[in-house]
Amino acid sequence: MSPDQPRVLSGIQPTSDSFHLGNYLGALKQWVAMQDRYDAFYCIVDLHAITVDPPPPDQLRERSRSSVAQLLAAGLDPQRCSVFAQSHVPGHTQLSWVLECITGYGEAGRMTQFKDKSQRSGTDAITVGLFTYPVLMAADILIYQADAVPVGEDQRQHVELTRNLAQRFNSRYGPTFTVPEPFIPAQSAKIYDLQEPTAKMSKSLPDAGTLSLLDDPAVLARKIKRAVTDTETEVRYDPQRKPGISNLLVIMAAVTDRAVADVEADFSGAGYGAFKGAVADAVVAFAEPFGKRVADLLADPAEIDRVLAAGAARARAVADATVADVYAKVGFLPPATA
Ligand code: TRP
Repeated sequence: MSPDQPRVLSGIQPTSDSFHLGNYLGALKQWVAMQDRYDAFYCIVDLHAITVDPPPPDQLRERSRSSVAQLLAAGLDPQRCSVFAQSHVPGHTQLSWVLECITGYGEAGRMTQFKDKSQRSGTDAITVGLFTYPVLMAADILIYQADAVPVGEDQRQHVELTRNLAQRFNSRYGPTFTVPEPFIPAQSAKIYDLQEPTAKMSKSLPDAGTLSLLDDPAVLARKIKRAVTDTETEVRYDPQRKPGISNLLVIMAAVTDRAVADVEADFSGAGYGAFKGAVADAVVAFAEPFGKRVADLLADPAEIDRVLAAGAARARAVADATVADVYAKVGFLPPATA
């Protein structure tokens, strides 16, 4: 957390009560690893969380606090990075408006995540907020002059839009924004649904296929033991022909910090039952202490609020400067002091 280091910004939606193992391995683990080498800003994107099916207000508050507790339990250290809530930094929406005014309507309409979500929910359920979601995400990134954005592959197009908007603004109004690079670790473990092992693990699939970090140990074990496999008997990594077993191998390797090939070698000759039992034990050994840390953190909500306040103060210092620069460049009158 030094201004001399390259900067990263990333965000995660507080849309469920618990992050799942795919969130942890695909994003959070990366965030933790980056906090020492970067000036890192990580936010709970609560503004984004009301674009589709907004939860009841109490639930959103609860999920936001729980999300922060989970980020800290995963290893983010508020002394080494800035953790904050997007809604606590007004600059995000202030910048988003200006960016909306340089984004083409057709350009926004080509975002595949928007097209997918809007097709799934039907036109009546879709909001303008969902349509402009990627522009708000661009504001989240550009407002911090981020050099890199750690995200999953599914966010690549949004980061590409962000780069285009930065370049467009810079060429129209003069150098203003750092053009960020997506940071999508190639070899980061990609986790699939346990019941449908060709689909990415996701909270929008039925619960039986998702390993939530805050699930009870017994529930985690049961989900793993019921995971879909195949009719062979060999524990072998072959994502094409054996997606279920391969997924379990990747999960086991990731939670024990080992190579897939090593885990595979350990279980050569073992039956699926014994293998699943070992995967269940490894996942529980990871999730149980995580759940305890989260419970401890949530027992002291005032401390979570202090972490968020300190993070937001740091974030606002950077964000306000960018907004002032952008507003001046666009030609808004400087706010006079009476
Ligand atoms: N759209 C991202 C996702 O669903 C979340 C997000 C919002 C984000 N703003 C961001 C990610 C800024 C990185 C940077 O995963």
